[in-house]
Amino acid sequence: MNDAVLPAEGPRAHAEGGPGGAAAPGAPPPPTLEVIDLHKRFGPEREVLAGIGLTLHPGERVALLGESGVGKSTLLNLVAGLERPDSGTIRLAGHPIHAMDEEAAARVRAREIGFVFQAFHLLPHLRLWQNVAIPLLLAGVPAAEARPRAEAMLERVGLGDRCRSMPRELSGGEQQRVALARALVHRPRLILADEPTGNLDPRTGGAALALIDEQVRAHGAALLMVTHSLQAAAIAERRLRLTPAGLETAS
Ligand SMILES: Nc1ncnc2c1ncn2[C@@H]1O[C@H](COP(=O)(O)OP(=O)(O)O)[C@@H](O)[C@H]1O
Ligand SMILES: [Mg+2]
Repeated sequence: MNDAVLPAEGPRAHAEGGPGGAAAPGAPPPPTLEVIDLHKRFGPEREVLAGIGLTLHPGERVALLGESGVGKSTLLNLVAGLERPDSGTIRLAGHPIHAMDEEAAARVRAREIGFVFQAFHLLPHLRLWQNVAIPLLLAGVPAAEARPRAEAMLERVGLGDRCRSMPRELSGGEQQRVALARALVHRPRLILADEPTGNLDPRTGGAALALIDEQVRAHGAALLMVTHSLQAAAIAERRLRLTPAGLETAS
């Protein structure tokens, strides 16, 4: 049997991945995220994104600044395949998520993305370990394996002794740590964080940021983080500002 005839796919590459999802042997990996000439409007009057371009490589951390209402959350939702662009290209680890139907986009999202929201969005009726296990179960990991992995991830964010707690028993900072554990447990290539410290006081927010920084580095994920906070922006090596005219480098 000649190995060369086998598809050159790693365990994470999937058929819907298109050309980038199945790189030739020895070829450099595709960028984690490639956004090209992205346009999005809401109704005829409201042009939100008018030709956005952005490339993120593995391990790269980008802070996204910009005034309220300028379209930062919209950009993250488009990248996650939760909204559809009017035109333009979005490739996630080579997968053309802009061109996929909802089901295919959901599969790519479940595998490749971890999302941290300002409002945490933990499921209130599930224990912490169950909340953290969700991305694993979505990815098809058997329940017997998902639980110890979720518990180990909670341990890494300092909540190893709270696995059986309910979200309402935690402080806001602790809930955000659970949300981070949930975003990272399935080792996604891209972490999207939408004002992850927006509901936290400065000290708790600082601790959450340090943890995001540490965990994103440990997992080798790329990070695209919307923030209003310069403290938060400091953990990124690139700071970009979204304006009505497009993305520009921020100091
Ligand atoms: N689903 C939607 N329908 C209509 N308008 C929307 C929708 N989502 C966002 N918008 C509008 O798009 C603009 C950008 O919103 P958003 O991306 O949430 O801004 P930001 O996150 O930068 O504060 C706002 O004017 C908002 O009202
Ligand atoms: Mg927003």
